[in-house]
Amino acid sequence: MWLLRIAAALPFTASIWRKTFGSSSEKLERTVFGIRFPNPVGLAAGFDKDGRYIHAMQQLGFGFIEVGTVTPVAQPGNPKPRLFRLPADQALINRMGFNNLGTQALANRLKYRPKNLIIGGNIGKNKNTPNENATDDYLSSFETLFPFVDYFAVNVSSPNTPGLRALQEKEPLLHLLQALQSANRVKPNPKPILLKIAPDLTHEQLDDIIDVVRLTQLDGVIATNTTMSRDNLTTDAGHVESIGAGGLSGAPMRASSTAVIHYLHKKTQGRLPIIGVGGIGTPDDAIEKLKAGASLVQIYTGMVYYGPHLARDINKMILEEGW
Ligand code: FNR
Repeated sequence: MWLLRIAAALPFTASIWRKTFGSSSEKLERTVFGIRFPNPVGLAAGFDKDGRYIHAMQQLGFGFIEVGTVTPVAQPGNPKPRLFRLPADQALINRMGFNNLGTQALANRLKYRPKNLIIGGNIGKNKNTPNENATDDYLSSFETLFPFVDYFAVNVSSPNTPGLRALQEKEPLLHLLQALQSANRVKPNPKPILLKIAPDLTHEQLDDIIDVVRLTQLDGVIATNTTMSRDNLTTDAGHVESIGAGGLSGAPMRASSTAVIHYLHKKTQGRLPIIGVGGIGTPDDAIEKLKAGASLVQIYTGMVYYGPHLARDINKMILEEGW
């Protein structure tokens, strides 16, 4: 990634990459929750937590990049090792724990953000902040990032910050999102706010999420974060157990994440904008998410196994299939 960043800054490489990976066609453009995206393929949160690689990722053909998750105060995250490959399953297990340089450092970097690229700011809470005070953390990052991002993603679904997912429950979620929307509405130009949810929710919990999204007039949902489940793995169970806690991403969670998208889309009669993420490892997998009701897609683990041309290949297939 370090080399990629240096290379992306050289005019010669930048122009070759743009030709190799770029996907510029009016047919790829999408207007979702009031924002015009140059193409519907995004880099999922967690890959570029501190906004170091936005220029490079734009050159690899991404239409949008979700930076973060960031927290108000810089924090180191969990002790290493905290990221594990399961190559036989095209999957990863991670317990990074929101390692990041803090929201202000990200804002400073985003002052130099490229044009014609949409940037989402994914915000969370510090590990040491008790859940009763979580709203303050989200509000603080919201204000700091507001001038520099196009939309916000509220992350209440990471499995690696103790207690975080309890904020997905109806009452605390309502409180958090109402506070954010109140801060948003007093701005001259409010920005879209989306909620990023876990794939491990029951239909009743998803119904609650739909209610809260409606009540707070949220702009959309990002479905989904990594899963707690260890189903659908071919890797030796003993080895998986020895890895320990963390969120599983990649191919084994593809279907469950698509099922969440499908449920939300059907329940809201297609009125809720959804960013589909989880287990997209090939262009076909991205089309599956669009068919289930996603308006945009994001990838992370697929970049690791398929390689840097995944965004380009997905855009190519979207054009070929007329999506
Ligand atoms: C993530 N993901 C993530 N999500 C988020 O909202 N904030 C974060 O900080 C992170 N960090 C993170 C680190 C690592 C190492 C991985 C693998 C994932 C979750 C990610 O954005 C995505 O929702 C899931 O990984 C599912 O998509 P893929 O990886 O199957 O394409």
